[in-house]
Amino acid sequence: MSALHYENLMTLSVRINDEKVEVKVPPTLSLAVILRNYFQLTGTKIACGIGRCGACSILLDDELVNACLVMAYQANGKSITTIEGLSKLSLDEVQEAFLKQGGYQCGYCTPGMIMAVKAMFDRNPHPQESDIEEALAGNLCRCTGYGGILRAVKYVMNQKHY
Ligand code: FES
Ligand code: FES
Repeated sequence: MSALHYENLMTLSVRINDEKVEVKVPPTLSLAVILRNYFQLTGTKIACGIGRCGACSILLDDELVNACLVMAYQANGKSITTIEGLSKLSLDEVQEAFLKQGGYQCGYCTPGMIMAVKAMFDRNPHPQESDIEEALAGNLCRCTGYGGILRAVKYVMNQKHY
């Protein structure tokens, strides 16, 4: 981002994946761009850039959001979890399930899908079919690999003996 010149910078103070960080950024830069370019957290993908595909899904204060629609000034003082934050010591159970059940093809949608599934299980450990559909409604897979994604969700549920 160094080639770009911005006059009004703000100090963005956030907690990213349990680490407190501060960085000077333009206040209207999107969180998705900040995560990728200032923190090299490139697991958060940018595809549509307008809140339609879910590739940039992250947790902001434990709520699932599209990072391409959150501006830096809106994230100030908040806590962010990205796909990288799910696997600090070992893979999260949802990541493991996606791997085991072929929940990805090109993988571009996968981080966002995993964050959406994670958010669903966090708020509802016993999802019904309609809950799963609703949880994934904002995440698009261009490879149309939904079969493997749904198998991965079911796998997590079976592992938990629901
Ligand atoms: S890149 Fe954010 S929703 Fe598509
Ligand atoms: S696996 Fe390619 S976009 Fe979903």
